[in-house]
Amino acid sequence: MVFVMREKIEELLQQIANLSSNNEKEIESIRLSLLGKKGEITKLFEEFRTVSPELKKEFGQKLNILKNTAIQKIEELKANINKSATNTKSQTDTSMPADTLSLGSRHPVSIARQEIVNIFRKFGYEVAEGPEIEDDYHVFEALNFPANHPARDMQDTFFVSNNIINPLLLRTHTSSVQVRAMESMPLPMRIICPGRVFRNEAISARAHCIFHQVEGLYIDKNVSFADLKQAILVFAREMFGEDTQIRFRPSYFPFTEPSAEVDVSCNICKGKGCNICKGTGWLEIMGCGMVDPNVLEASNIDSKTYSGFAFGMGVERIAMLKWQVNDLRHYFENDLRFLKEFNTNHSV
Ligand code: DAH
Repeated sequence: MVFVMREKIEELLQQIANLSSNNEKEIESIRLSLLGKKGEITKLFEEFRTVSPELKKEFGQKLNILKNTAIQKIEELKANINKSATNTKSQTDTSMPADTLSLGSRHPVSIARQEIVNIFRKFGYEVAEGPEIEDDYHVFEALNFPANHPARDMQDTFFVSNNIINPLLLRTHTSSVQVRAMESMPLPMRIICPGRVFRNEAISARAHCIFHQVEGLYIDKNVSFADLKQAILVFAREMFGEDTQIRFRPSYFPFTEPSAEVDVSCNICKGKGCNICKGTGWLEIMGCGMVDPNVLEASNIDSKTYSGFAFGMGVERIAMLKWQVNDLRHYFENDLRFLKEFNTNHSV
């Protein structure tokens, strides 16, 4: 009899150690099966009465350990359901405040570039792209730069290879994309080429060694300077406001003839003169001109049948004028206080 009881106690201890349940009712029936009136442990306590006096001490201790282990285990199981209940509750508690997500905003240079591109896209211009690491031919040679032009100098251009014939370099302007487009696209063509450009310049409030440009090119039969003026006027009014005036000043670029620089009336002082326009009432926004016949011919376009105009502008410059930022370096420092000023819903 005592032998059976010893085995029974061992077996129950083993079973209790392996018990698991997450269900309140199930735990209660486990409790009853062990400690209830007809429970296994209760029965053992009844049998204890028949144990001989010399073994009472040993079995008394064993039974008490068994009973306490069972009570402790049941408490543990109950506590676990309480814990998982609070967890589920916190996951589904709809009254909890939502986590605040701080959304980034688009960079002002990217907003300005997109605005420029969108304006020209409305008039049927297609976006064209070219490589940032270019060769001398596409950046200078095909654009009619004389061999000794200062822009080809090491002081302006970052060279990537020192090949003498056609060195690789970081493009100094997006006009190189014109050449790539003329080589590969059918005529007539209207393209707009946004991109990054690189110049070996000291960084200051007005200059940076990396900046962005947008180049435009239109080639067709009978394209005239009047078409160029009209395109720029429409662009300027869309970009800077309806009453913006423009003026063309004669200039020189190797790839256009005639060439001009375009000013817009200062949108801050409305032409009266302020410190942004340095008292002149005008702000320079781009270079432009009629594509030089040499440039058309270099890309195998018959300059007797076709003519075209081109223009190029700095995106940071347009952004500075549009938002009256007087130091170009703000655009490259990623100071959140500055970037958050542009946290608006500009469309893509
Ligand atoms: N590539 C010129 C620059 O970087 C800008 C420019 C001027 C582009 C006149 C043109 C143009 O297409 O016709 O300064």
